[in-house]
Amino acid sequence: MAEASVGASSKKRLGILISGRGSNMAALVEAAGAPDCPYTVALVASDKPEAAGLAWAAERGVPTFAQSPKGMPKADYEAKIDAALRDAGVEAIALAGYMRLLSDDFVSRWRGRIVNIHPSLLPKYKGLDTHARAIEAGDAEAGASVHIVTEELDGGDVLGQARVAILPGDTADSLAARVLAEEHQLYPKTLAAWLCG
Ligand code: GRF
Repeated sequence: MAEASVGASSKKRLGILISGRGSNMAALVEAAGAPDCPYTVALVASDKPEAAGLAWAAERGVPTFAQSPKGMPKADYEAKIDAALRDAGVEAIALAGYMRLLSDDFVSRWRGRIVNIHPSLLPKYKGLDTHARAIEAGDAEAGASVHIVTEELDGGDVLGQARVAILPGDTADSLAARVLAEEHQLYPKTLAAWLCG
């Protein structure tokens, strides 16, 4: 018997927000090519028009949107992002290296429908420089977490984690590279399970 696949019309429409290279976004887009993936990428949006990830997505035919926040109130900038997401019919948002804090107002308008990937084993090391802090603390392992976005920075429920051993001689960069490879597996898998749940 043929395996059941998720019909195109029943797939959730995902918006992805990025600020830079977008390797996690690329992993999400590539995973969306599988017939049984429960989401389709409806929009990749960035606060940086020059973000490498935007060009990568556009080359693959994924709709893109860029809006710099420069020179405008945060509320106006977010209103433009929000409108682009809604125009694209987005139902859930994945943050993938989006380096801007979302306002409480934006989070509340998308309550429970935004996820993020953070490069630490939350609740440890919220915020920046996670790998350096894990090495400095003498931790045996580091990793990444996919979590629901709330008003608290890196504070929402954790949906999934990947763990990576910290090796003797690791630098923040060498550790980050191994964690990133795990992120690319973790994010599509966790997002799919969450959307199906
Ligand atoms: C990743 O390490 C992710 O965990 C963090 O920002 C980085 C983004 O990398 N939130 P990329 O743009 O997805 O390559």
